[in-house]
Amino acid sequence: MAKYIVQGGKKLNGIVKISGSKNAALPILSATLLTNQKIILKNVPDIADIHSMIALLQSLGCEVIFENNTVTVDAGNAKYRDIMSEGICNMRASILLLGPLLARFGKAKMSFPGGCILGKRPVDAHLTALEGLGAEVLDVNDVLSLKTDKLKGDDITLSEMSVTATENVVMGAVLAEGESTIRLAAAEPHVQDLCNFLNKLGAKISGIGTHKLQITGVKELGGCEYSITGDYLEAGTFAIATALTKGEVEIQGIDPHHLDIFWNKFKELGIPFTFGENSVTVHPYESLGHVEKIRTAVYPSFPTDLQAPFTVLLTQAQGESHVYETLFEGRLNYLFELEKMGAKFEILNPHQAQIIGPTKLTGVPISSWDIRAGAAMVIAALAAQGTSEISNIGFIDRGYENLERKLKDLGASIERR
Ligand code: EPU
Repeated sequence: MAKYIVQGGKKLNGIVKISGSKNAALPILSATLLTNQKIILKNVPDIADIHSMIALLQSLGCEVIFENNTVTVDAGNAKYRDIMSEGICNMRASILLLGPLLARFGKAKMSFPGGCILGKRPVDAHLTALEGLGAEVLDVNDVLSLKTDKLKGDDITLSEMSVTATENVVMGAVLAEGESTIRLAAAEPHVQDLCNFLNKLGAKISGIGTHKLQITGVKELGGCEYSITGDYLEAGTFAIATALTKGEVEIQGIDPHHLDIFWNKFKELGIPFTFGENSVTVHPYESLGHVEKIRTAVYPSFPTDLQAPFTVLLTQAQGESHVYETLFEGRLNYLFELEKMGAKFEILNPHQAQIIGPTKLTGVPISSWDIRAGAAMVIAALAAQGTSEISNIGFIDRGYENLERKLKDLGASIERR
C-alpha cells in the first residue's frame, strides 16, 4: 500500500472546495436499483468506496458511467444475483444493497459486509427493520439472506439509530405497499440527502431530518438529476488541519450548520471562524483554550467520524480533555500512533480516554487504521515538527478525494510514494 510523506509545520492558507459526501453517495448509488429510469448524479466523490459500489451495481447488470464526478446509472436491465463478490469484504456499505434488492427482486443474499474495524458492528437493526416490512430472514449465520413476496408498510421502531439500517428500511419502504412509519430513524445529513433524492424520484417521504419518518409507498419511481450534498466530515477535517497549522482557509461547498456542535467546540478552544452561505472560514487563533469533553453520538451530536481528527486538536489544547466515543468500542486505537508522535493520554476503557495537552508532536513513521483515523494521522503530521511517514493510506483513499492535491494547493508539503 502507498504511503504519505508529510513535512510538518507548514501553514494552510487559501480556499478548498469540499467534495460530495461519501456517506450520501453510497446509499444514493444503491437506491438507483429502485428505478428503471436513468439517473444522473453530480458531485460524486472519486474515491475507492464509490468505485466499489459502482462495481457491485455493474455486477448486477446496471449500466454505469463515472466521469468528472458525474455518475450516470441505468438499472433498467438489472438482474438479480447473490452478492458474494470480493468488493463486499472491504466495504461495510455493501449492506446498503439489502433494501433495494428486496424491494426490486424480492430477495437478497450476500456475504457479511466487512469494512473498517470500529467495533462489533452488528446487523440486527437492519434485519428487524426489514422484517418489519414483511421480509423473512432465511440465514444470518454464514451469509445474510432475506426474501419477501411483497414488502408491506408498517409502524417500525429501529433497535438502534443506525445510519445504514435507516437507509435500508427507507429504500424498502418507498416501494412497499401502504404507509410506513420509521421511528428512531437516524437523521444525519447523508440520510436526509438519500430521502431528498428518493423524493425527487417520486417517493413520498416526510419528516426528513427528524427521528420519525413517514413514508407512503408508491408503485414505481422515475429518473432524475441530483447533486450529492457536500461532505461535512471532510469539511471538519480541513477545519481542524487549518486550525492546527494556524493558517486561514475558506472551506467551500458545505452547509456549515451540519457541524453546529463541532463549531461550539471550536469556540470553546478559542479558534475563530466565520460562516458564509455554503462555506466557513477558519482564522488563526491567538492561543488554544481548553475543552472539557467531546462525546460522540448520533446527529446532531458530535460525529464519531470526526472524533479521531478532533482528538489531534485536543493534544494541543490546554489541560485534560475527556473523549467519550459512545458508538464504537474500537475507535480509540489510533491513539497509540499519536503516542509515537509524542501525544499523552490515558485510555480509561474501550470507549473513553483522557487526553493530556498540550504536547509537542514530532514526525515519525505512523499508520492509518481506518478511514477517519487515517485522516487524523495526516492532520497530526501536518502539525508535527519534522517528517512523518504514514502507511496504509489505502484507507484514506476510500474516503477522501484528492486529499494530497487539496492540501498541497493550501501550502502543505505532502507526497504519495
Ligand atoms: N448498531 C447496532 N445494530 C445494528 C447496526 C448498528 O447495534 O444493526 C449500532 C452500532 O454498533 C453503533 C451504532 O449502532 O454503535 C451506529 O452504527 P451505524 O449502523 O449507524 O453505523 P453504520 O451505518 O454502519 C455509518 C457510516 C459510518 C459512521 C456510522 C456512525 C456509512 C456508509 N457509514 O455506518 O461511517 O461511522 O454510520 O455515524 O454511512 C466512515 O465514513 O468512515 C464511517 C465508518
